[in-house]
Amino acid sequence: MSGRKGGSGGGRGGLHERVKTARRRTASSTRWLQRQLNDPYVRRAQAEGYRSRAAYKLLELDEKFGFLKKARAVVDLGITPGGWSQVVRKANPRAKVAGIDLLACEPIEGVAILEMDFMDDAAPDALLGALGAAPDLVISDMAANTVGHPQTDHLRTIGLAETAADFAVQTLQPGGTFVAKVFAGGADRELLTLLKTHFASVKHAKPPASRKGSPELYVVAQGFKGRAERDEKEE
Ligand SMILES: C[S@@+](CC[C@H](N)C(=O)[O-])C[C@H]1O[C@@H](n2cnc3c(N)ncnc32)[C@H](O)[C@@H]1O
Repeated sequence: MSGRKGGSGGGRGGLHERVKTARRRTASSTRWLQRQLNDPYVRRAQAEGYRSRAAYKLLELDEKFGFLKKARAVVDLGITPGGWSQVVRKANPRAKVAGIDLLACEPIEGVAILEMDFMDDAAPDALLGALGAAPDLVISDMAANTVGHPQTDHLRTIGLAETAADFAVQTLQPGGTFVAKVFAGGADRELLTLLKTHFASVKHAKPPASRKGSPELYVVAQGFKGRAERDEKEE
């Protein structure tokens, strides 16, 4: 690749890659490229056939909370480019998966992919139709496009997480799990209240694969209590 020279030392095993600042490349895209080239998770994803370094976030969350092995029907919100669904299918090749994204996603065996906005009113039924069953695991890695204003970015991502949580509460099988990306500070009070009401356990975690400088965090809610039981208690 032009504009790149390797082997100048300083990195792991002398493999640290330095990126020449090409005349037409902005400083921030040079930084992004340099970070990609030197990121061990990017290298690992390439070597292990995952489409994204994000795959390792789900793997690490699963190591800590253990929800993938028993998952049989999974909804992947914000599926593109597909790393999380690849992880789900690798952990459990018989799992059915339906994913949705604003952006196109290359096909993955055993995964139904919808290219549409999850915030569209038609999305929940479309996902359930594509899955053909009630999910026992709902995972959301959706992130709103950042606008560089931390409060706005936080609110938009929390909005996606709240809508994902509503979907999980409306559709999960009893005992099911919900995993979602939230931002620094964790799920806000309203989202936490919703999750604590409906799940036996609600925890936050920052998997090692999540970049230290990033405000991203994940909420993992396990042991969905089911709708019928709660509806009876509320009567
Ligand atoms: C961090 S990426 C997901 C990476 C994925 N988990 C993986 O492992 O490959 C976040 C995705 O959320 C999607 N997204 C954001 N808002 C969305 C929305 N309203 N509906 C559907 N997808 C959305 C983005 O298009 C983006 O592809």
